[in-house]
Amino acid sequence: MNILGIESSCDETAAAIVSDGVYVRSTIIATSLGDHQRFGGIIPEIASRRQIEFIHEVVTTSLAQAQMTLEDIDAIAVTRSPGLMGSLLVGLMFARGIARAQKKPLIEIDHVKAHLYSNYVQLPEEPPACGLSSLPAVGLVVSGGHSSLFYIKDFKNLQLLGSTRDDAAGEAFDKVARILGLGYPGGPVIDRLSSQGINEEIKFPQASLPGSYDFSFSGLKTAVLYYTQKHKHKPGFSVAKVAYAFQESVVAVLTEKSLKACQKMKVKTLLIGGGVAANSALRSLLKTRAQAQGINVFFPPMALCLDNAAMVAGLAFHWHKDFLSFGTKRR
Ligand code: KG4
Ligand code: ZN
Repeated sequence: MNILGIESSCDETAAAIVSDGVYVRSTIIATSLGDHQRFGGIIPEIASRRQIEFIHEVVTTSLAQAQMTLEDIDAIAVTRSPGLMGSLLVGLMFARGIARAQKKPLIEIDHVKAHLYSNYVQLPEEPPACGLSSLPAVGLVVSGGHSSLFYIKDFKNLQLLGSTRDDAAGEAFDKVARILGLGYPGGPVIDRLSSQGINEEIKFPQASLPGSYDFSFSGLKTAVLYYTQKHKHKPGFSVAKVAYAFQESVVAVLTEKSLKACQKMKVKTLLIGGGVAANSALRSLLKTRAQAQGINVFFPPMALCLDNAAMVAGLAFHWHKDFLSFGTKRR
């Protein structure tokens, strides 16, 4: 079963073809990131205009790379929400148009759940993905827009355990990078810089919010702001040290809560997804701590941590039996 997936929730315009929910035949991603950088964040109006410019070529290139035509496609999958309204609409309308014209079923997918599914799709010449036999699992999605913990019985039954009460983890990386004058997006640069700033002098708060699986990063962000304002003109002030201390706080909270959720739900599999899943400190702390507790932790391949359409096409496979022919199901 070949599914063409389309993703347009933010600044990436992506299309991919995935066979049988696992095998990636093609994955194409265009981004308008460069147009937003001078503003220090995504400008929705610019993002949606770029989506319109990119989408046709991204979809046709994805078909060409897979050496397929629309005739070879069994269903179309598209991100329905959450995301920027203008950007989402471009992908949705394009997908609906193809589905109608080709008389093929359309499956609308939840972007956050799709991020967790990135662990199950397999890129060409990459090792096999983690495999559905590893369910049930706990899933942590950490991106620019979301920080959520799920219990995953299977990919049609996900239960939200907790989410952020204020900023998402990636958003905190982006805002702290702005405070430190590091540009946008903040995650990759803070990740790189932290390795040069390892220290024990600076400690920032970790909001543990006892008794809940929710997160909060706004207090940490404010603490970084006040620390930076107070110390930036003093001798010995180091941006790398502040970046390291901030990253340590985020990573510690994410690790702690995810492993607690695994214990509570009595599962041995932890799936991570979203842009912050690319973070090297998160990967290394989670691997060490999870291993010590006998939990297998999975991260998507780097190429699938950020927004992509392979995760959308892959997840849609699990719903294909449920949709009416030519009809629409929202998942
Ligand atoms: O999943 P994604 O592409 O978009 C959303 O759905 O939001 O994630 C983008 C986010 C940005 O906030 C970016 O700063 C963060 O992922 N990010 C990282 C790293 N790479 C990207 N955060 C921490 N460490 C990284 N290496
Ligand atoms: Zn995303």
